Amino acid sequence: MKGIILAGGSGTRLHPATVAVSKQLLPVYDKPMVYYPLSVLMLAGIRDILVISTPADLPLFRRLLGDGARLGLSLDYAEQPVPNGLAEAFRIGARHIGDDSVALVLGDNIFHGPGLSTELQRHARDLTGCVLFGYPVRDPERYGIGETDEAGRLLSVVEKPEKPRSNLAITGLYLYDNDVVEIARGLEPSARGELEITDVNQEYVRRGTARLVDLGRGFAWLDMGTHDSLVEAGQYVQILEHRQGVRIACVEEIALRMGFIDSAACYELGLSLAKSNYGRYVMDVAVGAS
Ligand code: G1P
Repeated sequence: MKGIILAGGSGTRLHPATVAVSKQLLPVYDKPMVYYPLSVLMLAGIRDILVISTPADLPLFRRLLGDGARLGLSLDYAEQPVPNGLAEAFRIGARHIGDDSVALVLGDNIFHGPGLSTELQRHARDLTGCVLFGYPVRDPERYGIGETDEAGRLLSVVEKPEKPRSNLAITGLYLYDNDVVEIARGLEPSARGELEITDVNQEYVRRGTARLVDLGRGFAWLDMGTHDSLVEAGQYVQILEHRQGVRIACVEEIALRMGFIDSAACYELGLSLAKSNYGRYVMDVAVGAS
C-alpha cells in the first residue's frame, strides 16, 4: 500500500499564523503538525509516501523530511498549485499509486489511541473497496458525515450537512483500493468548485464496497483547522507526554519500533537534535532498544 499526505490549502482560517508558513508545519506542542499524519502512515506499515502541498510550501516540507531515507522511508513530493479539493490527490498522485492500493491522510489530523497500528495493518492487507474511519463529534455540520443503518452498514456519506442524520464524522484517513484512481479521474467539481473526497466515498458506497470502522469514543481524533483546535491539540499532546513520559508521533521512535531503522541509526537521529528534550528522548529510546 502506498501513502499520501495531503498538506495543501491556504490555511486562511488560521491567518495570520499561516500567512508565511504552511499550517501543516506549525508546531503542535513539540513537533511539526505533519509528523502526526506521517506517523499514522508509518504505523500502518507504509513506507512509500507522497507529500502533496502548494508550490510555495513544498520546499519547506522537503527541508524538514528530505527523501525519508533516514527514517527508512521513501518520500516523494508533488505540487497542488490550487486547492481544488482533497480528491485531486489521486489525480496528482496517480503515478505514485501505480497499481497499488493507497492510504490518504490529511496533514492536519491527529489520530491517537490504543491498537491503531494493528488495526490499520489489518485493514491495509488485502483491501477491497474502501475503509473509512468514523468518529462521534459534537458539530457534525463541519464534517463529512456517515449515515449507517441499524447493523452499522454505511448507507451514505454527506459533506457538511445542514441537517446531519448522524454525528459520525468521516475522519481524514482513508484507505482505498486501486479503483480510487479511476473514480477520481471521473469526478466533476462540486458546487463549491472542488473535487470532493465525499464524492469518492459516495461512489464506493454505491458500489457496495465501502466499510466504516467506528473509532469509538475512547479514541482521540483531532483536526487543527482553527486557532482553538490547534492549541487544544498541543495541550492534549503535552498532557499525555508529561504524564506518561512517552512521546506521541515521534517518527524516529516509530521507525525504530516498526523495524524501518536500527537502534544505532535512531541514536544518530536523536543526537542531531540533542539540544532539545525531543532529541534526548529519541536517544534514550535508541539506547533502551539496543
Ligand atoms: C475534510 C473533508 C471532510 C472530513 C474532514 C476531516 O473537510 O471534506 O469530509 O470530515 O476533512 O478532517 P475540510 O477539513 O476540508 O473542511
